[in-house]
Amino acid sequence: MKIWASANQKGGVGKTTTVVCLGGLLAEAGHPTLLVDLDPHGSLTGYLGRDPEGAEGGAYALFQAAAQGRAADAGASIVETGCTGLSLLPARTALATLDRQLGTREGMGLVIARALAGVASRFEFVLIDCPPMLGILMVNALAACERVLIPVQTEYLALHGLDRMVRTLEMVTRARPQPLPALIVPTLFDRRTRASPESLRRLRERYPEQAWRSTIPVDTRFREASRAGVPPSVAYPRARGVEAYRLLLGDLLDGPVPDRAVVVPGGVGTDSASIASQSTRSAAPEMGRQNSGETVSAAGESSHGNGGCK
Ligand SMILES: Nc1ncnc2c1ncn2[C@@H]1O[C@H](COP(=O)(O)OP(=O)(O)O)[C@@H](O)[C@H]1O
Ligand SMILES: [Mg+2]
Repeated sequence: MKIWASANQKGGVGKTTTVVCLGGLLAEAGHPTLLVDLDPHGSLTGYLGRDPEGAEGGAYALFQAAAQGRAADAGASIVETGCTGLSLLPARTALATLDRQLGTREGMGLVIARALAGVASRFEFVLIDCPPMLGILMVNALAACERVLIPVQTEYLALHGLDRMVRTLEMVTRARPQPLPALIVPTLFDRRTRASPESLRRLRERYPEQAWRSTIPVDTRFREASRAGVPPSVAYPRARGVEAYRLLLGDLLDGPVPDRAVVVPGGVGTDSASIASQSTRSAAPEMGRQNSGETVSAAGESSHGNGGCK
């Protein structure tokens, strides 16, 4: 089972879209995939037709169980999405209260990693949608995953937010014996603007090793697919944006993608250091646990009308 996280402290950069689009492509290629919503806003949960206000269980129940010293049973919290091969561990808005409730408790950094280990035989892939803030949820995601995707909107000031995210990664993952490979995914690329090509050039200049070789274009079909409540690859298999994610998935499965952690050129910053050090302390002892590197075939071409979704 491979676990990837989509993370950036900036909102609106394509984190959720990346998860739902790659998830749809993996599922239709025959890889049983679990999408994990760790954003209290529950955008991914809402996208897939569930109400994050009402949903019982989900990721929140795993933390509740862990806080009470019970084994967290991820299996009981997972729901089906209506798409064959695509399951969801939903978010609840109550996730927003976790940092206040549990932020200072030891041992809360590996709740998700442990829960996912319990369902490893059911899924080939797990994609985690991270919240846009550093706290117990992001720490759990970064402890559980073996690769992080950082969607970055190609706009002016994008590098500022990216440096911040990379500093967070440096702090939170310092305890890992193995590095956490990071891939920066330039999103919402619009070649007709000045801002997109310019910011892409700067991004590649600053992070030459970590920036993905291509871009995800602006594509209005993503918004339309979210209204339909199915992965973009199901609603619009041949849309430009979906083709771009298909290329990304092919690279993730078969290379070329970086296998090293990303660092901020010129040194480590200190913002949000207290939360990070606190949470990594609790996650540190077992952060080295890694998934084996079994290989899987690249996602195939989409051919079905409904992509296996009801
Ligand atoms: N490549 C894209 N082209 C057009 N719209 C996009 C694209 N990626 C995301 N969006 C839209 O932008 C908004 C924010 O994307 P989302 O994935 O929810 O970002 P995040 O999870 O980082 O907050 C959503 O309405 C989504 O449909
Ligand atoms: Mg989101």
